[in-house]
Amino acid sequence: THVAVLMGGLSSEREISLRSGTACAKALEGEGYKVTKIDVGRDVAERLAAIKPDVCFNALHGKYGEDGCIQGVLETMGLPYTHSGVLASALAMHKERAKAVLREAGVPVAESRVVSRAEAAKGHPIEPPYVIKPPAEGSSVGVYIIREDQAHPPQELTSADWALGEELMVERFIHGRELTCAVMGDEALDVIEIRPAEGLTFYDYESKYAPGGSIHVLPAPIKLNVYQLVQKLSVAAHRALGCRGVSRSDFRYDDRPDGTGELICLEVNTQPGMTSTSLVPELAAHKGRSFGELVRWIVEDASC
Ligand code: DAL
Ligand code: MG
Repeated sequence: THVAVLMGGLSSEREISLRSGTACAKALEGEGYKVTKIDVGRDVAERLAAIKPDVCFNALHGKYGEDGCIQGVLETMGLPYTHSGVLASALAMHKERAKAVLREAGVPVAESRVVSRAEAAKGHPIEPPYVIKPPAEGSSVGVYIIREDQAHPPQELTSADWALGEELMVERFIHGRELTCAVMGDEALDVIEIRPAEGLTFYDYESKYAPGGSIHVLPAPIKLNVYQLVQKLSVAAHRALGCRGVSRSDFRYDDRPDGTGELICLEVNTQPGMTSTSLVPELAAHKGRSFGELVRWIVEDASC
């Protein structure tokens, strides 16, 4: 089987995708596949038409790779590809649109709304604390937490250099712990608690990708009923959005001692990070599946 690993691409998460793709390509070679690495650009269709792979392994993140665009190209070309299809990808990528579907499926999400950059420039769109971010980016690119004592939204959001679109999503800040769970096929894997390293305020880009930027606790040290609820909601979210293959859902859990804590789904990632230290490979390993077995499973699950 000849597998084209699609990586790099045109998004703000290009560097992470190169890392995901390199790790997956190496593991696929180790599994005996014939592998061609494709650094995705505007000419991706011509390059794929020239090599005619049996399967495209999607290791892209962000715009064009995770939002249904590349999926549409591959569908049109009749090339089987891994992970979610056009609709699930497009829905999940837009955090605000995805919430409507998740809410409908009984998955709790934080109240939010989309505002223009012009509106954000006028002052706080909602009472702080809140989170403001581009609705369709990943890896915490462009995410700001606005604390109670902050006088106005950060200047970067409204500056002329801003390259992440005209829409911003404003979301109520949820106190508490960060949990994540992956779904593989129809089955939830385990739950990881992520703690940003000392001095880092939240699970931001640096905390995600710098060595030692965060601590992963697996299995997450939370009550069994909450653990199982995270798993159940992850499967519900995966199904509601129509995801395929592997997805990863991120949650915040406000663990109040009086038992009134809330569990909120922040988002579903249809193209979760696949670097050797990423969360999904770690979750698969915990279930006894090596990185090689994981990528093999993903390839065998491909369709179009
Ligand atoms: N957006 C990054 C790659 C993730 O969700 O893992
Ligand atoms: Mg994400």
